This record gives sequence, structure tokens and C-alpha cells, in this order.
Amino acid sequence: MAQILDGKKVAQELKDAIGEQVKTMDTKPGLAVVIVGDDPASHVYVNSKEKACAAAGFYSEKVELPAETTQEELIAVVDRLNADEKIHGILVQLPLPKNLNEEEVLLRINPAKDVDGFHPYNMGLLLGNKGALSDSLLVPCTPKGIMKLLAKTGIELKGKKAVIVGRSNLVGKPIALLLLYADASPMICHSRTTDLESQCREADILVAAVGRPKMVKADWVKEGAIVIDVGINRTDEGLVGDVDYEAVEPKAAWITPVPGGVGPMTIACLLENTLIAMRNQS
Ligand code: GUN
Repeated sequence: MAQILDGKKVAQELKDAIGEQVKTMDTKPGLAVVIVGDDPASHVYVNSKEKACAAAGFYSEKVELPAETTQEELIAVVDRLNADEKIHGILVQLPLPKNLNEEEVLLRINPAKDVDGFHPYNMGLLLGNKGALSDSLLVPCTPKGIMKLLAKTGIELKGKKAVIVGRSNLVGKPIALLLLYADASPMICHSRTTDLESQCREADILVAAVGRPKMVKADWVKEGAIVIDVGINRTDEGLVGDVDYEAVEPKAAWITPVPGGVGPMTIACLLENTLIAMRNQS
């Protein structure tokens, strides 16, 4: 029987602490969230981000743009937010519609306001800087949230073998770096990895971030492993992760549920990053 890594609870504690801090501030931290198009899942995430901002006393602005928005129009929105002093953090919800150039948009965000940590400047600092966990760097929210959950297990990460399934800029690559900085030995696996299952079976820490419902089966998981499920997949049976939770849970020492695991941590870390961005800008 695994112990549950209750992201909802841990995230609430973090959000409450941030809310208390914000109460004492004359100027409120400001976050702008830009969403283009009508992908329902993205709208759900963005609404959760807005709600969390309001609950913590942040100033927030949601910019909803139609799917037909041009690159120039989106860039103009980013420029306006870059220049707005009330806005300390800017998040452009991904993925963008196919006709838009994501890389150019992310490059346009002032790195000081890049609360996602996706700008090459911030990614470069994360790559080059072992002080990545210092409290001034903008580290991508999901990997940051995962590290906070891992800390809750009380298990020392030093020397542990970590296998990450998924090589995205959003999760796979940055979580590998954060685990490396915690003295674990990370391996990034992906669709072309030879014998993915046996790689996963050797993991003390297994992070699944691929977006394939219930892909990680019980026989992929070492007895006593920590299993972190980043997947949020909408299926006929409802919301499921990348891990076959019912089958894997009895083998794992710790496991994150979906929903209520990594997802809420991402949002709490977004608030934390907005506070960091504000402090960096003052
Ligand atoms: N889409 C899915 N997760 C994220 C995230 O953390 N940030 C942004 N901007 N888009 C996302």
C-alpha cells in the first residue's frame, strides 16, 4: 500500500502561506494569463489559475483571444503586458493554436515576468546554475511542484535513480535538472527509448509526463518506488493520469493521485513564482 502524496493539501498550505504574505503587502502581486483559442482543457486550467490568484489576494488579468488571433496581435498583447507595471508575471497558456509561433511568443515575454520559466534566459539559468533552487530564479511550475512533493516524503533523493518518461521543455527536461541538483541520477526516457519498461523498473523515483492514459503499468514499477504522475488525460472513464493508479498503487511506497496530485502544486507554484518575479522587479 502506497502512501498518498496529497498535492491538493500541500498546495493549499502553500497558497494559504502566500495569501497571508500578500495581506501584508500594499502593492499586490499581479499575474496576467493569456489564452488563445477554445481548447476546453486549457480553459479549465486557466480558470483554476484565476481562482487561485483571487483567493490569495493577487491582482489578476485574463486575456482571452480567439483562435484566429495573428502572431502580430499576440505579440502586441505580450508587449502591452510587459509594459504594464501592475503585472509582475505573464503566462501564455500552451499549447497555442498551430498557426502561431510559440517560440517567438515565449521569447517576447520579459524574462523578469516569465513566471513559467520557459524563456530561454530562465531555462539557461536553470541549466547552468546549481543554485537553481535559490529563491530568485523562475523555475517551471510543474517541476518545482514535484520537488516540493518529493520533499514531503522525507526520503533522501541523493544517489537515487530517477526515471522520467517524457522529454518536454515543460516537465521532462527541467525535472531532470532539479533531480540532478538534488544529487539523484536522472534518466530521461521517451517514445524511442529501447525497452522503456525495464528502464522504469529500475527507478527509485518514476516520473510519468507523457500524456498517455494509464501507460505505466504495475510491472513497470519497482517495489517501493516513488511514483509521480504528471498526466491529466480526459477519457471516457473520466480524468486519468499516465499511471495505471489502481494497479501501481500497491507496489509503490508513495504515489500522486490524479486529480489532486501534481496539478494543484503547479498552480501553487505559479503564485509563488509571481511573488518571486515581483520581488525581483522591485
Ligand atoms: N500548459 C500545460 N501546462 C502549462 C504550464 O505550466 N504553463 C503554460 N503556460 N501552459 C501550460
